[in-house]
Amino acid sequence: KNLAVFASGSGSNAERLVEYFKDSDLAQVKLILCNNPSAGVIQRAERLNIPLVLFNRSEFKSDKIVDLLKENEIDWVVLAGFLWLIPSNLVAAFPNKIINIHPALLPKFGGKGMYGHFVHEAVVENKETESGITIHYVNEHYDEGAIIFQASYPVTSIDTPEDVAKKGQVLEHKHFPEVVEKLLKEEI
Ligand code: GRF
Repeated sequence: KNLAVFASGSGSNAERLVEYFKDSDLAQVKLILCNNPSAGVIQRAERLNIPLVLFNRSEFKSDKIVDLLKENEIDWVVLAGFLWLIPSNLVAAFPNKIINIHPALLPKFGGKGMYGHFVHEAVVENKETESGITIHYVNEHYDEGAIIFQASYPVTSIDTPEDVAKKGQVLEHKHFPEVVEKLLKEEI
């Protein structure tokens, strides 16, 4: 199976997915796609020798990206720190084959604008005693698709947003590749 990973930032989850499936005969990360020319994921893709496609908003809105994914025989689209809403033509082209990871326990701290640091600041401000990660199917709305997997971790009263983020990334790096593999294995 061919995976395409979309990222807008550092790309540590993208790197974990590439590494995890490197010697797999089940799947491989065939493409990394990015909407941010200064994203760290660009350097990671070069180092990992994975083709990287950089695109802008008008290209993303056109059929260009969908056509590219189809030309590359992509089977699953994995969002790993990708910050734009997925347009309906892309959702329609990959029914139940687009998944996302969100750094909180959805439905809490989800939706437009709730990404990265803002999520962890809100968790700390709300004095939450736990937070976690959510892996879910993607539809046309931010963070609203069916939930596939969640894992949680304790948040203490002295945790900073950075501390919370770090706990989440540990779980993301452990679970995201395993959940993707499980989905691929269960696929009819
Ligand atoms: C992760 O925290 C992920 O949950 C969120 O964005 C962050 C991406 O981190 N969607 P990275 O770019 O994979 O390092």
